Amino acid sequence: MPLILGIESTCDETAAAVVENGTRVLSNVVASQAAIHAVYQGVVPEIAARAHIESLLPVLTEACATAGVRAADVDAIAVAHRPGLIGSLLVGVTAAKTLAWSLGKPLIAVDHVRAHLYSVMLDPVGGLSFPHALRLTPLPSVGLVCSGGHTALYDVQSWRDVTLIGSTIDDAVGEAYDKVATILGLGYPGGPILDTLAAQGDPKAIDFPRSRLGESLDFSFSGLKTSVLYHVRGHKGRERPPGSVNDAERADIAASFQQACIDILVLKLRRALARTNARGVIVGGGVSANHGLRAALAHFDVPAYFPEPAYCTDNAAMIAGLGYVMFAAGQFSDLSLDASPGGEIAMARRET
Ligand code: KG4
Ligand code: ZN
Repeated sequence: MPLILGIESTCDETAAAVVENGTRVLSNVVASQAAIHAVYQGVVPEIAARAHIESLLPVLTEACATAGVRAADVDAIAVAHRPGLIGSLLVGVTAAKTLAWSLGKPLIAVDHVRAHLYSVMLDPVGGLSFPHALRLTPLPSVGLVCSGGHTALYDVQSWRDVTLIGSTIDDAVGEAYDKVATILGLGYPGGPILDTLAAQGDPKAIDFPRSRLGESLDFSFSGLKTSVLYHVRGHKGRERPPGSVNDAERADIAASFQQACIDILVLKLRRALARTNARGVIVGGGVSANHGLRAALAHFDVPAYFPEPAYCTDNAAMIAGLGYVMFAAGQFSDLSLDASPGGEIAMARRET
């Protein structure tokens, strides 16, 4: 039963986890920097990198202690090496290389966005929430990663055969959530707050635009975000006075914005299903925790699979999990491994 130690430091969460056999999570430790960045209403890359340096060793120590293993007992070290903030990535990658070299363990380089999809495979720490067999059925599937940094569609034939088929051309959906929450004065990170508020509003109150982008599988959320901004602030010459949005209207804006996001995501999922042989959809990333999205896909055309709540946002269990798949396939990296801020989505964009 291979044990993989996973390390995640792509953005503002310092995380380490020990996962057995790709699905059994022995520990999943996450040190969030959200409180540090809240005052700036967004992640400050330089501060994030420094905070990772401070947190990583305690987080690694706790992950091993909770799992009841020593770092020397694991079979490989898996690290998220792309995409993300370069300063943040470098902390995790350097730590992983150091551990792999000093302990004589294989090093595995994991794509953070693809790992978000794999998070549907992970058991809750300390037990199973639904039968193993159910968890193993979704392939081939369409994979949707919707997070703060990424919105992307994948054709997932197997965990070793995953192809990027669409991505956002501007904002990620989680980024739009956070920016709209800021416009509404809801605090940071705004996704979960907006999600809660949306449940109290009317999703049909305001007809915000949905960017369909022709027949494309790509996404665009910046027009929607700007439309919310104009709705709240008013247009030139017809500005609304600050503070003129009351609680009831704020809830309607949240619900209508959320409905527009869900409509776009569902439309693109249907398009992707029509173009692949997928039998299900797998949703991952921070926005996969969204109650509205989960409700919309509860009775979808095909079964929809979501991660356990703890694995929706950034975590290292998903890195160790996908790392196990690569371990089994002998896909190792050497010590020349480098962090890559853009990753495959940026590469795909450059090619088109
Ligand atoms: O996957 P993640 O932790 O980080 C990235 O890889 O980007 O996603 C964080 C994002 C943030 O934008 C946050 O506001 C959003 O996920 N988020 C949500 C919810 N929970 C987290 N968005 C909508 N509804 C939620 N319940
Ligand atoms: Zn993420």
